[in-house]
Amino acid sequence: MLRSVLGLIALFSLGACGDAPFDLDAGASPALGAAYVRQRGCAACHQSGDTSFGELSGQEVPFAGTLVYGSNLTPDVLTGLGNWSDVQIIRAMIAGVDDQLAQLCPPSPHLGDLSELEARSIVDYLRTLPPVYRADVPASLCPPLKPFLPDLSVAGSDDGGTP
Ligand code: HEC
Repeated sequence: MLRSVLGLIALFSLGACGDAPFDLDAGASPALGAAYVRQRGCAACHQSGDTSFGELSGQEVPFAGTLVYGSNLTPDVLTGLGNWSDVQIIRAMIAGVDDQLAQLCPPSPHLGDLSELEARSIVDYLRTLPPVYRADVPASLCPPLKPFLPDLSVAGSDDGGTP
């Protein structure tokens, strides 16, 4: 446990590259990641009831009584994790923060018991998923963590439609 915590601290402080004190990639594999994803039940929150949308591509229906949507975990660049670094994905799983370090909405879990092997394997697995573009999965709102903020820059920059 201590070793795992120290490893993650090293991972966060060093970033995706750099000389880690031990080999974080040792033994990690997409196949292992697939097994961990099943074990953790990620699909319950990140997969549509309609499987034709694609594996772990997000939920277009919010959690009951909320405006929170299980996000698209496929490598799609616009609506998924295509632009997230490994460390950003691992941080989201463990600390419950997004790529801007903003808090994620509940019920997004904080997986404090994630080992390096598990974290690395899950990332490896997510990278193997076919990218799915899901414009129909809205951004989550959960005030006061994530309040709705009107985009004033758009409203104030109306130049009459010149592209
Ligand atoms: C109980 C439901 C639940 C489970 C189980 C769950 N998540 Fe999530 N997760 C969420 C919700 C809801 C969000 C989006 C929160 C938000 O947008 O503020 C999220 C966000 C994320 C994010 C950040 C991505 C983004 O675009 O915001 C990642 C990465 C992630 N989850 C990975 C996983 C992985 C991998 C698993 C399995 C190990 C998992 N989650 C299990 C509910 C869940």
